[in-house]
Amino acid sequence: MNHRRVPDDAYLSAMYQLAYGRLADVVGDRVSTGRVLEIGSGLALARLSGHDWWHSDVVSSDGLTLQNVAERLPFQDDSLDALVLKDTWHHIPDIEGFLSEAHRVLRVGGVIAVFDPYWGVLARFVYRFLHQERWDTRAKGWSFDSEDPWDSNQALTYVMLRRDQHVFTARWGNRFALTEYRRHIGPSFLLSGGVSRRTAISGRLLRRMLQWEERRSTWFDHLRFFHVFGLVKR
Ligand SMILES: C[S@@+](CC[C@H](N)C(=O)[O-])C[C@H]1O[C@@H](n2cnc3c(N)ncnc32)[C@H](O)[C@@H]1O
Repeated sequence: MNHRRVPDDAYLSAMYQLAYGRLADVVGDRVSTGRVLEIGSGLALARLSGHDWWHSDVVSSDGLTLQNVAERLPFQDDSLDALVLKDTWHHIPDIEGFLSEAHRVLRVGGVIAVFDPYWGVLARFVYRFLHQERWDTRAKGWSFDSEDPWDSNQALTYVMLRRDQHVFTARWGNRFALTEYRRHIGPSFLLSGGVSRRTAISGRLLRRMLQWEERRSTWFDHLRFFHVFGLVKR
């Protein structure tokens, strides 16, 4: 993965601005203590969008506040306002371990803000057949074996929130309320090749296409590649 190219690429940086902007919207005015932690920050590119959240990842890099796994957070009970995950949810091998830990460290009314792959018609095809990461909608459970932080199941939010929606509600519905459900970023993502396979198509052109896509209403959702949602601690 070459995330270092993001700041210099007109399209990728616009995509990041959009993603972190929407995540900040989900965090919104829930911030009372000022304690917001990003999980799986990678190179902490959220800083480019001006967010002064704490940044964490299981892999060390410059710009991180702490190095830790999502499933064990070094914070006291009820001590954080928000947890932010951009493209990280589907990499967490024990997602219910993370949800338990998130519920412990968030104060009541605090939120987990998530940006992750969506399951529209186009996205399903691309993630399944053209993307280097795994897309497994038939996974038996929600956890998976992981030998490397980049191991993933990109279909994990589909599996949990759509396929197993009733199970999710039964297990987690009394602890979290699902909010702020929106889809983003259309075919411009496919044409760009994404972060790891960036094509030669002009970043400025793709950025204009992205701006056009974001102005479309929900009829466009079946062509979108990502979604953003919040889980508010009850
Ligand atoms: C696709 S990258 C996203 C990085 C960054 N959020 C971005 O969008 O540029 C996923 C990140 O999740 C991290 N990660 C994977 N498993 C993790 C875990 N169990 N706990 C914390 N971070 C994890 C990886 O090291 C990686 O940096």
